[in-house]
Amino acid sequence: MNVFRPGNGKVQLSEAQIAARIRELGEQIKHDHAEQEPHLVCVLNGAFIFMADLVRAIDMPVTMDFLAVSSYGNAQQSSGEVELLKDLRMPIAGRQVIIVEDIVDTGITLNYLLRLLEARQPTSLKVAALLSKPSRRKVEVPIHYLGFEIEDAFVYGYGLDRGQFDRNLPFITSQA
Ligand code: IMP
Repeated sequence: MNVFRPGNGKVQLSEAQIAARIRELGEQIKHDHAEQEPHLVCVLNGAFIFMADLVRAIDMPVTMDFLAVSSYGNAQQSSGEVELLKDLRMPIAGRQVIIVEDIVDTGITLNYLLRLLEARQPTSLKVAALLSKPSRRKVEVPIHYLGFEIEDAFVYGYGLDRGQFDRNLPFITSQA
């Protein structure tokens, strides 16, 4: 059985395409943070691979932390409610924070996180998201560093799960 087989849907992002775009995002983040080291906040679970590649594409000192929120469980639709499952270890007051998300779909999760972290008074609060599905948006949210805009399809691979499996695919794919 070959698990590294892409689906036959319209969204297909190869390992090389993802790597090239992340290199660009890393350069942009370095350029925008000449005055103070950025503090990257990874939103678990889906962003763990994006985070790992993104921090290595930023050629300057960075700090990082991790939080976890409830996603869809095994469903492919958002419940509309977000639950904080694991909070940050470090305070973010006075820091230049970048939230690192896998995908912005309805925007509900990111909106929740922006409110939560804004209240802790970071110097700045930005968002890096690998993927965005603008046609699905229910809440407008800013994305400062975006990997790829995609159409409405359920995608998986490169950290994103399909019923908890397929996070280990090195590419992003979708089904027909
Ligand atoms: P939102 O709150 O609707 O924007 O959804 C955000 C979260 O839902 C993401 O961080 C993902 O964990 C999950 N999600 C949304 N769309 C997809 C998808 O196409 N594949 C896998 N997970 C998804």
